[in-house]
Amino acid sequence: MESHKNNVLYIKPGHRLEGTIDLPGDKSISHRALILSSLARGNSLIEGIQRGKDCLATLNCMKKLGVSVREDDKRVIVQGVGLEGLREPDDILDCGNSGTTMRILSGVLAAQKFYTVLTGDSSLRKRPMDRIIKPLQEMGATIWARKEIFPPLSIKGSSLRGISYTLPVASAQVKSCILLAGLYAQGKTTVIEPSLSRDHTERMLDYMGAKIVKKGMRIELRPGQELRAKKLLIPKDISAAAFFIGGACILEGSDIFLPGVGINPTRTGFLQVLQQMGAQIEVLNKRIMCNEEIADLRIKGENSLEGIKISGDIIPCLIDEIPILAVVACFARGKTLIEGAGELRVKEADRIRALSVELSKMGAKIEERKDGMVIRGTGILKGAEVDSWEDHRIAMALAIAGICARGETKIRHADCINISFPQFPDILQRALAFGKKEL
Ligand code: S3P
Repeated sequence: MESHKNNVLYIKPGHRLEGTIDLPGDKSISHRALILSSLARGNSLIEGIQRGKDCLATLNCMKKLGVSVREDDKRVIVQGVGLEGLREPDDILDCGNSGTTMRILSGVLAAQKFYTVLTGDSSLRKRPMDRIIKPLQEMGATIWARKEIFPPLSIKGSSLRGISYTLPVASAQVKSCILLAGLYAQGKTTVIEPSLSRDHTERMLDYMGAKIVKKGMRIELRPGQELRAKKLLIPKDISAAAFFIGGACILEGSDIFLPGVGINPTRTGFLQVLQQMGAQIEVLNKRIMCNEEIADLRIKGENSLEGIKISGDIIPCLIDEIPILAVVACFARGKTLIEGAGELRVKEADRIRALSVELSKMGAKIEERKDGMVIRGTGILKGAEVDSWEDHRIAMALAIAGICARGETKIRHADCINISFPQFPDILQRALAFGKKEL
């Protein structure tokens, strides 16, 4: 159905998506598992880690910081060095495309007794780091950045003090950065969020024995709490699932089963919105795994969605799913309005601009707004030559648009899919090519 070469992905229209889909591990949780297990004392066994380039960037940074890691196909064993055991790397740390790596790790590095430099690819070097620099400096950190905003970051570790910090925008990366710095600080650290962002750091800290006190939007952490090495099982990534869920909702007759997907309530905004739009999504066999909720999802495609307004507190709970949501909205009846999502402009690409430009090439009726977009569902897209803007989620959203469109779609700069979901083209091909399996 599709083929992939020379950084170009060719997509042919499909009839429906079917079968059981084995997804990669959750990217956000994988980053945290690698960092927190490094800071724990003893060996942590991690199963189901995501092996996209972003998580590998975190893994390589931890190795350069003196952490030993053993890996096979299924598992990673991290020999944690304890909170004080990291070593000064003798070279810069390359975070690649990964904002999560840079922002979360900076919180740890700001408190070390050594010097580090963090850099990344051309996309990451354009992303704002003042959002972590400001609170870390308030804690007493010494950090330099290009124009005081952009990577590379130079961090001279120092002793930190706990602060109470109100985040100007909901961001799990910034929250996590401050909390990890707080593990090393003198006195209590408090983070107050304007609305709830993903809480994997808090859950994993708690699971590994560091007490976190949550009071509404306030999170408090006391310093000096040692982390215990643990067996960490990573849920399947709901953000990777979203592309197949979106595709299945559009293509009538689809029937897909996604086992073991993370359904942490701070991540399920996409499911809620699709259900409000009229999608048939069953959440089955809910259970808890390593302090995270997971479930099996079954989606049947009925192609009877209605446009909707998406704004307010739900935005951080579906921020990474807006690219695929925009595609779904093209196939819903009426207007879909997305507002309060200005953060999309500072992701791996300006996702508001990228979606407006690229989906328009496929015939979408999409209007760009400062903090969102308006999409008028037409129920039809046409295959076109489009570009990913080197953003993995744009590339995969366009691939789903391509299978739902009429005619072939050619996606340029498609290799960025390897950032979070290297298996995506193969899995998509299998879900399209074969009949009902394993259900
Ligand atoms: C992430 C948080 C989100 C999200 C990103 C991953 C994380 O960003 O968009 O893909 O793992 O903490 P914010 O920190 O801006 O919320």
